[in-house]
Amino acid sequence: MQVTYYGHSCFSVEFGGKHLLFDPFITPNPLAADIDSTTIRADMILVSHGHEDHVADLVSLAKQTGATVISSFEIHTWLHRQGVTRTHPMNTGGHWIFDFCKVKCVNAVHSSSLPDGTYGGNAMGFLIETPEANFYYAGDTALHYDMKLIGDYKKIDFAFLPLGNNFTMGIDNAVIAADFIKCDRIIGMHYDTMEMIRINHQEATRKFDAAGKHLNLMKIGETKTF
Ligand code: NI
Ligand code: MN
Repeated sequence: MQVTYYGHSCFSVEFGGKHLLFDPFITPNPLAADIDSTTIRADMILVSHGHEDHVADLVSLAKQTGATVISSFEIHTWLHRQGVTRTHPMNTGGHWIFDFCKVKCVNAVHSSSLPDGTYGGNAMGFLIETPEANFYYAGDTALHYDMKLIGDYKKIDFAFLPLGNNFTMGIDNAVIAADFIKCDRIIGMHYDTMEMIRINHQEATRKFDAAGKHLNLMKIGETKTF
């Protein structure tokens, strides 16, 4: 699978010629100034929750790509009011088998409202099962014990975990989260975008190494195979 980082918590995961895009926040992010969002492709856009730093480019990219947007019911309703109608509403605990992958919505401990103040429903994470690999996108979340259920439920080949602290779990809790989900290949997200979530990269890498795990802190614009 090819994973491309667009900054903050925005990633594209490509497999079998299909592109999944997560939490599009690109044009307001100064660290992602070199990303040309008009070239981004997506067959599905998955939205973990409604905060600005996860949906800033959602409406424009949904219209540009024609992708199906997967989100909470409340975000789906809000999207219809923005003229985005290719949507698939879900909620925590549910799964749906799409054409090329299975998506299960899992618990995230966080809040969710849209930039205009509309209630966004539950914040969620996603467990994605594909013929090539399974992966977990945690969204914005605290460390929580339900992550053990995710690790028991499926073998997870790699996982996206927030590291930045303050609004989500930080590095130490993310190491524990990696244990809970029984996954050794972690891709960091939700760090460095603003002062309150700046992390020390060496410290983060060292702490994951000490736990026998590998942390990837991808460069914005970089594509890596997982
Ligand atoms: Ni958030
Ligand atoms: Mn966030």
